[in-house]
Amino acid sequence: MSRILIVDDEKPVLRVLRRLLEEEGYRCSVASSVHQAKNLLAKNNFELLLTDIIMPDESGIDLLRHPARNYPDVGLIVVSIVGDESVMQDALDVGLYGYIVKPFEPNQVRVCVENAFRRRKLEIDNRRYRSNLEKQVEERTAALQANLAKLTETEAKLRKTNQEIESIISAISSVLIGLNSDDKIIHWNKVAEETFGLEEDSVMGKVLSDCDISWEWEEIKKAIHKCRETRETLRLDDVAYQRMDGKKGLLGISLNPIFTDNNGNPGILFLAADITERRILEEQLAQAQKLEAIGQLAAGIAHEINTPTQYVGDNLRFLGDAFSDILELMKKYEELLQRVKKDNSVSEKINEIEELADELDFQTLIEEIPKAIEEGLEGISRVTEIVRATKEFSHPNMKEKVPIDINHALENTITVARNEWKYVAEIETDFDTDLPLVPCIPGEINQAIINLIVNAVHSISDIVGEGSGGKGKITIRTSKVGQWCEIVIRDTGCGIPEELRDRIFEPFFTTKEVGRGTGQGLAIVHRVIVEKHGGRIHFESEVGKGTSFFIKIPLEVN
Ligand SMILES: Nc1ncnc2c1ncn2[C@@H]1O[C@H](COP(=O)(O)OP(=O)(O)OP(=O)(O)O)[C@@H](O)[C@H]1O
Ligand SMILES: [Mg+2]
Repeated sequence: MSRILIVDDEKPVLRVLRRLLEEEGYRCSVASSVHQAKNLLAKNNFELLLTDIIMPDESGIDLLRHPARNYPDVGLIVVSIVGDESVMQDALDVGLYGYIVKPFEPNQVRVCVENAFRRRKLEIDNRRYRSNLEKQVEERTAALQANLAKLTETEAKLRKTNQEIESIISAISSVLIGLNSDDKIIHWNKVAEETFGLEEDSVMGKVLSDCDISWEWEEIKKAIHKCRETRETLRLDDVAYQRMDGKKGLLGISLNPIFTDNNGNPGILFLAADITERRILEEQLAQAQKLEAIGQLAAGIAHEINTPTQYVGDNLRFLGDAFSDILELMKKYEELLQRVKKDNSVSEKINEIEELADELDFQTLIEEIPKAIEEGLEGISRVTEIVRATKEFSHPNMKEKVPIDINHALENTITVARNEWKYVAEIETDFDTDLPLVPCIPGEINQAIINLIVNAVHSISDIVGEGSGGKGKITIRTSKVGQWCEIVIRDTGCGIPEELRDRIFEPFFTTKEVGRGTGQGLAIVHRVIVEKHGGRIHFESEVGKGTSFFIKIPLEVN
């Protein structure tokens, strides 16, 4: 129930108002002085205050100001006679809801009180609404500020991460180029600047093909295309380019797709390094290995040459002696001729000649001399053959592929390595005589074959050496298989144990004692056949029975 405080110093007015309002259903309290009214206001929750202005103790205006200041929810109505204008103004200034002029009509009071309640409710709602609104604004502002703080923190973290990524990227010692999906350059590091002599600012946003770089662009273009298509990392080796010192250099490039979204064209991350020096070192290493192999063979070759040289020498010495003997005999014949011309006493001379011919074993000389000449010539042709094969075997400076007769090359290699195998194995060849010429770098292929033959010999000698007696067998077969030339080298050696099969092509993997092997042989074979010739290599092996190495070299250079 709504509570009203009525204040008036005239008791009859109080009574009339109280009755009137209580009849309307309001609960009323009354006070006849300002002092009493203030006390009641302090102890009760009133909703409406009806007061006279002219009071005996304090002014009604003061009373009006008191709730306006302390109890803002109390509505104010003045019930008074019309006062002077300044009093009216003061009364209005505190925010009156109504002014009932004495003497009043009851209806006037009812209407005024009723309106006051409505206005009070509106104002309270309004105030509540406003304070709600303010609270909301405050809360939102606080939330916003918290978000802002978080954002600032995140931004700082992001900046830090960015800086870290930047410093990691700038620590990469390779050329690093980023291309977006339109092939435009979005990253160009310091090494790229130094390698190609192009400043970052001058290339950013440009298409890579528009940059002034002297390199094998067609090959790179193809690789970019393929990398986009397959969405896989791709490696390009030995891409020629012009170095800043004007010399020709080689780049090893890896192209990696960058996915910014799932479906679009991927960007490309280019990582490139100058591998010129590495290639030179590899070349030198290969050359050193070859020299070592030839060094190893040299003793054998010397030995091979020694035998024919020995009997060529023996035969020449014999021919020399024989010739001086014959010369002596010829002198006697000459004397005989002169005697015959002068007189007829020749019988004495004939006897002398016959004796000498007997003494010199002329008949044997006549038979032996042609044989000695023949043997000497055969020896010389063997020396010539070995020298020729050795020369052809090494091909020291040939770096390019040329079409070669593989069968002939294998024959040479077998000849050169004869001393390596002849005590341990027989070599049987089964060559396809219709084999077309095969594009090869001859020196390198020969070296690969010799490495395989030496391995076969070693594996046979491991068995033969164990006292089984006799020799092993190495079979070398060639044939044309599709668009490949296949060379099979089979040995009847010890075989390769299962657990080593994955490792034999590793550089420096060896099961041999120091001095017999360094573990480079098959690594070089692999490099020569697979990397340099685009070929294939595999093997089949059975422990205790032997091993076959299968090599395939493409017949067409691609
Ligand atoms: N034909 C073979 N039969 C049995 N084992 C083999 C044969 N070929 C290679 N191997 C094994 O593979 C290993 C590696 O061979 P690889 O030719 O690379 O090195 P290596 O012969 O030990 O030394 P290098 O060839 O450098 O003098 C050998 O040590 C050997 O154990
Ligand atoms: Mg070897």
